[in-house]
Amino acid sequence: MANKNLNAAKTAKKDEFYTQLTDIERELQHYWPHFRDKVVLCNCDDPYESNFFKYFALRFNQLGLKKLICTCYNGSPVQGNELLLHFDGFDAEPTKIAYKVEITEVKDLNGDGAVDLSDVRYLLQNDKNVLSTLKTGDFRDPECIELLKQADIVVTNPPFSLFRDFVGQLIKYDKKFLIIGNVMSVTCKEIFPLIINNKLWLGPSITSGDRKFNVPSDYPLDAAGCGVDEDGRNYIRVKGVRWFTNLDHNKRHDKLDLVCHFSREEYPMYDNFDAIDVGQTSDIPMDYDGVMGVPITFLDKYCPEQFEIVGLSQIGCHDLLPDKKKYNSYKEIVRETDIPTKSSGGKTNENAVLPGKGTKKTYYLGPSGEIVHSEAKRIFIRNKHPQTI
Ligand SMILES: C[S@@+](CC[C@H](N)C(=O)[O-])C[C@H]1O[C@@H](n2cnc3c(N)ncnc32)[C@H](O)[C@@H]1O
Repeated sequence: MANKNLNAAKTAKKDEFYTQLTDIERELQHYWPHFRDKVVLCNCDDPYESNFFKYFALRFNQLGLKKLICTCYNGSPVQGNELLLHFDGFDAEPTKIAYKVEITEVKDLNGDGAVDLSDVRYLLQNDKNVLSTLKTGDFRDPECIELLKQADIVVTNPPFSLFRDFVGQLIKYDKKFLIIGNVMSVTCKEIFPLIINNKLWLGPSITSGDRKFNVPSDYPLDAAGCGVDEDGRNYIRVKGVRWFTNLDHNKRHDKLDLVCHFSREEYPMYDNFDAIDVGQTSDIPMDYDGVMGVPITFLDKYCPEQFEIVGLSQIGCHDLLPDKKKYNSYKEIVRETDIPTKSSGGKTNENAVLPGKGTKKTYYLGPSGEIVHSEAKRIFIRNKHPQTI
């Protein structure tokens, strides 16, 4: 599984996953009006490698940007691979250098009649004012924080291992952002409160499947979905990727079409929590006015005018549960009709068939037979305008 690779990379702090230009284009098309006259910062981006830099440099005039700043971390192993930088003092040991690029205009400098990547290259190689060294390029470095303060919008794919710190810093400095992360990070105690309070939501262009990221040549390609592309660069396909943003986009206001009706038989209550369990987002009943537990991927369809998010069935966010009971009171949230018993044979019951929907789920039993965890994490929501009959 590609996710196995991602987790291994995370553990080893291997953070070099390079975003495809097509993925950036598909998402950015939803936000163009936000960028006019703005300072954009890509602060985890080697300008010579990053497609974020390419995207904004090439569309600098179309988007009407005021300034583009890109900073390169000194640990970036692919630095210099792409546009090939040659200028005094920088090409001796390229992998050790942190630097920034600041662009305030992109013109047809080589006079070929079009503004393209060769003009950007020309600009970087000939205008000494655009490029300068940094101490570390770490987004947390005071030097980089000064750049962050200048910025209106941060757009990047930050290191997976530092995602929570990265978001924390954006919130601290009250910045607009559009960044890539893993959908499961919504369950972190640092991120979920932002979602509840509508200070962070998901972007529209990725809602399922996996995404291809280029990786350095020393990353293991031992999982399904890995390979070498036509340019000879290694890639890994990663599941669960999402865009996280606080820039408004139209799709976020599209209401989910609800077609199901509530019935006690089809929507069982949790044992110890006054809410119904809804196995799939598409099954949310149109006429239930209480709390509903839905899959995390509900967030792909979340429209704040239609639903209120009230909690999460997860360690770390216990204090966000609606009635403020301790997490321990909730760790056993399961459907009452599906509880596997001790006699079901040891620690797991892999074939418990849920009534109503006929799906199979795994429940884990603790040492004394108590249920300690249900497989499915749930977000708790309420319909703001349930249909009345
Ligand atoms: C997931 S990669 C994405 C790279 C690029 N943004 C892209 O999408 O193609 C994360 C990048 O952050 C860099 N990085 C790691 N730690 C960093 C830090 N503390 N500050 C800034 N950048 C960092 C890595 O070197 C890597 O290039």
